[in-house]
Amino acid sequence: MKKYIGIEDVNDLQELVSEALQLKKENSALSLGKGKTLGMLFFNPSLRTRLSTEKAAKLLGMDVMVMNADKDGWALEFEDGAIMNSNKAEHIKEAAGVLSQYCDIIAVRAFPGLENREKDEADQVFLGFTKYATVPVVNLESATGHPLQALTDAMTITEMSTKKRPKVVLTWAPHPRALPQSVPNSLVEYMQKMDVDLVITNPEGYDLSKDVRKDTPVYHDQEKALKDADFVYVKNWSSYEHYGKILSENPAWTVDNKKLGLTNDAKVMHCLPVRRNVVIADEVLDGENSVVIQQAGNRTFAAQAVLKRILENNK
Ligand code: CP
Repeated sequence: MKKYIGIEDVNDLQELVSEALQLKKENSALSLGKGKTLGMLFFNPSLRTRLSTEKAAKLLGMDVMVMNADKDGWALEFEDGAIMNSNKAEHIKEAAGVLSQYCDIIAVRAFPGLENREKDEADQVFLGFTKYATVPVVNLESATGHPLQALTDAMTITEMSTKKRPKVVLTWAPHPRALPQSVPNSLVEYMQKMDVDLVITNPEGYDLSKDVRKDTPVYHDQEKALKDADFVYVKNWSSYEHYGKILSENPAWTVDNKKLGLTNDAKVMHCLPVRRNVVIADEVLDGENSVVIQQAGNRTFAAQAVLKRILENNK
């Protein structure tokens, strides 16, 4: 693996998932990354991605440097040919070039603004690093995707499934803030490569991009979609069609035990952080069907598998 931008960097998803599950089973430190440095830049907050990726790198013997780039770094300019006489002190060309001198792998988190779809899809911050860094770049959640989360989700479903082809339902749920489509986008892309029966359910106006959905069925009736589900993946996202807007906060979409009763005793997943009793009811999160903690635990081994493959490719 040369880099980890998204699903296009994964040759064989099932093989990568198996490797991550094997790393989890072994749960031991390796020396492959000795003398190598992972540099992580966060333009947005994180708990799981930051700590699990740091842990993964350390399990591989790597050194880790982390920077809250939005608060501690110079304001970056991304435009080619910009006359930098305003508030931007450093150009992405120098920033990425210099970081490539200090780090063997650079990992970046940069969320979308959710105001301008075209601008967000250009993914200026994350793709700026992929363009100008001379070392491999890893996606810690960009404007349009969260592939480390999706690899974790593929791993968790593989690990916990009791049938060959489980039904996986991605359901929208309400949230008071406008959230990116990154997590559902990547989940859908990864599930489309798995042997699962994937269904998406969301209110009208919340359909994900057609480029992502492809032929995946979308139901605007949540109860119909949840029928016989083996896994229910709960997530809020803002509208793609009416870009970045909150069109509904309808509590009827909150996942509670009544909804769970429609499923095949489904395991309930969420990438976290989750707003209790808005997105998912306490009774579900505290019940035995919730696997959100185990899911978050798998983040370490998904990240370890990705970093290991990049290190192996650059030996
Ligand atoms: N799921 C996830 O990416 O969590 P963080 O935002 O805490 O990293």
